[in-house]
Amino acid sequence: MKKISIAIDGPAAAGKSTVAKMIAEKLSYIYVDTGAMYRAITYKSIVDKVDINDDTEIERLLLHTTIQLKPSANGQLIYLDGNDVTKQIRGEGVTNKVSKVAAIKAVREEMVFRQQMFGKDGGVVMDGRDIGTKVLPNAELKIFLLASVDIRAERRHLENLQKGFPSNLEKLKEEIMLRDKQDSEREISPLRKAEDAIEIDTSSLSIKEVAEKILTLALERI
Ligand code: C5P
Repeated sequence: MKKISIAIDGPAAAGKSTVAKMIAEKLSYIYVDTGAMYRAITYKSIVDKVDINDDTEIERLLLHTTIQLKPSANGQLIYLDGNDVTKQIRGEGVTNKVSKVAAIKAVREEMVFRQQMFGKDGGVVMDGRDIGTKVLPNAELKIFLLASVDIRAERRHLENLQKGFPSNLEKLKEEIMLRDKQDSEREISPLRKAEDAIEIDTSSLSIKEVAEKILTLALERI
């Protein structure tokens, strides 16, 4: 069977990573959560007290940082310089700063390079904001997931409550809108639907239905 590349882009909390994980598992493909990579370097900048407004220092930090994505029974574990930071990178401090770090030119160049290395042999499902436009422009299947802010915030809220995390719906809504704005308005590789991407509005679909739709499209291309 041919091994294709699948790019899944979309705004914050659109369900990209859940769907991408399901598809990767079904096809026995590698799953690459590119958002986790930007989160990991943001987390390190907080721990190491590096000013996120200092592009040169952040670039230097990234060049001395290893980020590994390791599959596990519950999805994917994120290792930063050899330490598991899977949970820490989801914290509020990181979420509120990540879009600033991800807008730095040198950070994007280095991350795109690393992501392209992960995907170089195909057989990959990658999710993010610029996968179809920049990281994997030749991907055989490009998906752009959409849903209203209200629905995305409600889904994330329920997910947080199920995981036992504290959650505030209004705050989530604001955070999602701000991150979308920052990610769409940045100069380099802003959040955009690739011209050849297939748009799926997930508002009235379950995660399983979205995954099935994408899987059908993938199987047509294999
Ligand atoms: O996907 P997730 O919400 O975890 O991504 C966190 C942040 O990382 C995004 O809000 C965005 O600023 C950045 N990001 C990016 N390009 C990607 C993936 C994520 O700029 N390909």
